[in-house]
Amino acid sequence: MKAVGLTRYLPITDPESLMDIELDIPEVSGRDLLVRVHAVSVNPVDTKVRKPKDKVEPSPKILGWDAAGEVVKTGPECTYFQVGDKVFYAGDLTRSGSNAEYQLIDERIVGVMPQSLNFAQAAALPLTAVTAWEALFDRLQIVQEPAHNKGKSLLIIGGAGGVGSIAIQLASKLAGITVVATASRPETEKWVRELGAHHVVNHRQDLMQQMAAIGIVQPDYIFCCNDTDTYFPVMAALIKPQGRICSIVETVRPVDINLLKNKSAAFVWELMYTRSMYQTDDMVEQHNILNIVARLVDQGLVTTTLKQTLSPINAENLRKAHAQLEAGTTIGKIVLSSWH
Ligand SMILES: NC(=O)c1ccc[n+]([C@@H]2O[C@H](COP(=O)([O-])OP(=O)(O)OC[C@H]3O[C@@H](n4cnc5c(N)ncnc54)[C@H](OP(=O)(O)O)[C@@H]3O)[C@@H](O)[C@H]2O)c1
Repeated sequence: MKAVGLTRYLPITDPESLMDIELDIPEVSGRDLLVRVHAVSVNPVDTKVRKPKDKVEPSPKILGWDAAGEVVKTGPECTYFQVGDKVFYAGDLTRSGSNAEYQLIDERIVGVMPQSLNFAQAAALPLTAVTAWEALFDRLQIVQEPAHNKGKSLLIIGGAGGVGSIAIQLASKLAGITVVATASRPETEKWVRELGAHHVVNHRQDLMQQMAAIGIVQPDYIFCCNDTDTYFPVMAALIKPQGRICSIVETVRPVDINLLKNKSAAFVWELMYTRSMYQTDDMVEQHNILNIVARLVDQGLVTTTLKQTLSPINAENLRKAHAQLEAGTTIGKIVLSSWH
């Protein structure tokens, strides 16, 4: 089968940073599905894993943790899916990724693809949708009832990126909470408003002043999708007493959690790989989340965040997508579609 892999960790301008390779099709076992991958999306996790370092892989490493495709074989213990089902999933960071024509994936983290989307539109969603869902509803514990959220507000830092783009929709349309999203360019401001943000503030300017200007001095919740180090002090200053902050971006330096003490505010991490990495008892929640998201898409409540499609899926196009993501200016999602 065709695949795109690496053995050395090189700058994306190097043609060997991602290479076209041929591999054997893997064998199914246990609860694994064998999926023929039709479209993949690219996320900052790919560029972070690929980051230049001295390590050399003895056999090619396959990146890619976002895919849509078709089940072609099921393991002996599979009960959720059948051959022919169209599926979408983010995957498991500890296993081989989706930049391959065929991929093994545990059925407990796979969802039924939305019927109203094609493979490329569906591939844009799984990783960011699972992340946003877990952050908003599991970690921040936002209740999915508009009546409960009357007068409550959520600040999303980095609103136009892959995760922010889906979080805005889930928070404003499903939970009915007032959403303030950050965006720094006219095109990203327009994008976040179209997705359902009620207010937009610019993360390159003073956030405290801008929040005061829109009359939301203390948001009940903050979801940080960029640079936790830089935003931690302002998040601590803004958060409502007893409020909750969730971040999905690792810190580079230690942060001062004492800043949250007087407010009894909570800080919680979200890592969308936790459930698969630790095979948690509730791992199947990712199957459930993806199925709910698919229904919301088919009902028209959530739209795909696909913004750009490259074809075919090959090393050259993946290098282009990585370079674009590394620039930090992506709006919504970049997808690669079809192997031919
Ligand atoms: N923990 C997890 O499970 C998990 C899951 C997914 C992603 N992540 C991490 O979350 C981060 C965001 O992922 P993503 O896919 O949404 O990224 P992305 O699509 O690459 O985000 C791009 C957006 O970031 C915004 N941005 C750039 N600089 C910013 C700044 N200084 N402050 C605020 N926003 C800024 C840009 O908006 P403007 O153009 O308007 O500036 C741009 O639209 C990444 O670090 C990723 O690794 C973690």
